[in-house]
Amino acid sequence: MDQSNIRNFSIVAHVDHGKSTLADRLLEITGTVDKRKMRDQLLDQMDIERERGITIKLAPVKMQYNPPSSPLTLRGEKVEEYNLNLIDTPGHVDFTYEVSRSLAAVEGALLLVDATQGVQAQTIGNLHLAQAEGLTIIPILNKIDMPSADIETRRLELAHLVSCEPEDILLASGKTGQGVAEILEAIVKRIPSPRGTLAAPLRALIFDSVYDDYKGVIAYVRIVDGEIRAGEKIKFMGTKSETEILEVGIFHPARVKTDALRAGEMGYIVTGLKEIGGVRVGDTVTRIQTTEAVLEPLPGYKELLPMVYAGIFPHEGISMEKLRDALFKLKLNDASLSFEPERSSALGFGFRIGLLGMLHLEIVKERLAREHDIELVVTVPSVAYRVFFRDNTSKIIKTAIDLPDPTRIDHIEEPFVRVDIVTPKEFLGSIMQLAEEKRGVYVTTEYLEERVIIRYELPLASIIIDFYDKLKSVSAGYASFHYEIIGYRTADVVRMDIVVQDEVYEAFSTLVYRDEAERVGRKIAETLKESIPREQFEIKVQARVGGKIVASERISAMRKDVLAKMSGGDVTRKDKLLKKQKAGKKRMAEMGKGSVRIPSEAYLAVLKR
Ligand code: GTP
Repeated sequence: MDQSNIRNFSIVAHVDHGKSTLADRLLEITGTVDKRKMRDQLLDQMDIERERGITIKLAPVKMQYNPPSSPLTLRGEKVEEYNLNLIDTPGHVDFTYEVSRSLAAVEGALLLVDATQGVQAQTIGNLHLAQAEGLTIIPILNKIDMPSADIETRRLELAHLVSCEPEDILLASGKTGQGVAEILEAIVKRIPSPRGTLAAPLRALIFDSVYDDYKGVIAYVRIVDGEIRAGEKIKFMGTKSETEILEVGIFHPARVKTDALRAGEMGYIVTGLKEIGGVRVGDTVTRIQTTEAVLEPLPGYKELLPMVYAGIFPHEGISMEKLRDALFKLKLNDASLSFEPERSSALGFGFRIGLLGMLHLEIVKERLAREHDIELVVTVPSVAYRVFFRDNTSKIIKTAIDLPDPTRIDHIEEPFVRVDIVTPKEFLGSIMQLAEEKRGVYVTTEYLEERVIIRYELPLASIIIDFYDKLKSVSAGYASFHYEIIGYRTADVVRMDIVVQDEVYEAFSTLVYRDEAERVGRKIAETLKESIPREQFEIKVQARVGGKIVASERISAMRKDVLAKMSGGDVTRKDKLLKKQKAGKKRMAEMGKGSVRIPSEAYLAVLKR
């Protein structure tokens, strides 16, 4: 098909504003999926997605569209049929990388807003991503069938945000199908056809990939120039690996084999490669004969910086090889995941993984369990700090254990984020209070009809654990937020160690703000007091910062009544026995140094605190 009849686009929106449901209607109207096979949120194909009702993965699909009775004309000619390539995307901020990779592979974006909720933080985040890619944006007010939809206000609000006329905003319901035909027309009329040259040497962008036990790595590609067929020898310009293509095809949404993929189209290539490192998302595929000197690789994607790091340690009986292999396979399908080996004195060998947030961590843990049968112990996530030395060098550290000798350190910096919070006006006060408690620095307030967008700059460490829950609770569930890393800023943090019976237990070491060390230390010491079983001797639990004790607890010894066998009341003999017991305990305490058994529940209790 001629390139001018192709349209590539994505659907983006805040979580739950109805992307997958609208995609269902598009698939139905275009007859892409047989009515009998249709089910809700068809493009959410993973079990976790269907169970949780959220989209985690981008999902491409190709549709055939015949414009209805009033034929659309293109350059004066009546066009019979269009190829529409859609990529459905996740809404949650932890999966933004899926969105940005999708947007780099298309020319237009449908920006969907729930008419009962209006513009939310992620609407703004996604709009900015689409604008940065220079995409044509089609704003749509969705769920207009709902009685609580406030169409006129929401329409003004969205027009204000996108800087367009209120009439340019389409009204639709993914549920009833109302307005969906108009969306299809707008896609064809407003979104430009792909540029790129069919006659030029092959260049294709890899925007996603999966591992298949039989076929090896399958790469999802957008063909920019040229064409590609099964049997051709290709090379990946970044990784330099080479292979012969076993099969090419399109998404329907299941993979369907075709004879070729041409400039402007989207599809998959079966590489046959079993070696996972050979294929990387963002890389450019080209043909082997092409001399590199004349061919520029495509811009690809920015290297992604993880927001948080956590240690993962396999349960007993699961080998490191198995975990490593599973992580490599998972990374093919989750390009935002990173990992490196780690050893903990308490938990053994494992990996330190880099993630985009807490939901991402939860999903990775669950995918490893479901797809690879691997159960894990996960440590509490931490952000990465940048340590500056007196000799003007610097280093990134991802765990407190790696913090170098303090005498060499000049200062430490922590990642900061810009947070946009969208909320009804009445919650402004309590939200500002929350942001300030979390060490936020106020930036601006902007009004959007009857709601506000408040912008703060906060340490990333303040928002990764429970900011979302707290924000929801102070705003009766109405506020939403979106964040973006803006760089590193000086942080007064110190390493806090937990010392049990004079022995440092590294798994408990953390970086804490100096002015919070005492409070945090006390909490950990109390938690340990509750969870370490008593011994024959007294156990000292301390939180120390630079050798100074900031909090301490004692777990008293198990008592044995040494006087029980005595019948008389000989005071000197009693004293002698008690003294002997005391000396024995002292000796045991010394012997017990470092030998206090800390049960795994105690680790969990501290990590979960
Ligand atoms: P994420 O991918 O998790 O961000 O969600 P999503 O944006 O894909 O939303 P989804 O399509 O899963 O819809 C969320 C909920 O809204 C579901 O319960 C849908 O049934 C409902 N919904 C979606 N569109 C409409 C609509 O037009 N009208 C009504 N009444 N409900 C809708």
